[in-house]
Amino acid sequence: MRCLPLLLQLLLCFASSIEGKIFERCELAKLLKNYGLDGYRGYSLADWVCMAFYESGFDTKIVRPEANGSTSNGIFQINSYLWCEDYKRFKPNICQMHCSDLLTSYIRDDVACAMRIVQGPKGLGAWKKWKKNCEGEDVDIWLKGCEL
Ligand SMILES: *[C@@H]1O[C@H](CO)[C@@H](O)[C@H](O)[C@H]1NC(C)=O
Repeated sequence: MRCLPLLLQLLLCFASSIEGKIFERCELAKLLKNYGLDGYRGYSLADWVCMAFYESGFDTKIVRPEANGSTSNGIFQINSYLWCEDYKRFKPNICQMHCSDLLTSYIRDDVACAMRIVQGPKGLGAWKKWKKNCEGEDVDIWLKGCEL
């Protein structure tokens, strides 16, 4: 029985990663920097943080149903139509992942998928909310006070 607390801890840890998470702004900025997004494809870290804020409010659990039957998932609101698998109908699943993996507190896979999306012709403009709220704006405020 001595190992029970550890097992319980592991279970709780597992459960909390499934549950998702709302990131703090600077916590997210630091993680995105570690994952290599600062300057990726010419976009500043602040642009990525701004995009994530307007897409999800930094909440990894958000699933938004879209008018065409697809869903947008997680902190970057990645759409199921092209990028992830939701088993609804045959789709390309370009990021080779299940859409529900985009809802956990583990966001490294979200970042890897976002890196593929931003390689497209629209760049970060693939995210309409980035285009509307962040493009050409003074996005540095999104990193204000963060120790990076
Ligand atoms: C469905 O809607 C989403 C979100 O607006 C969009 O990203 C996706 O390209 C659309 N798919 C089609 C086939 O229109």
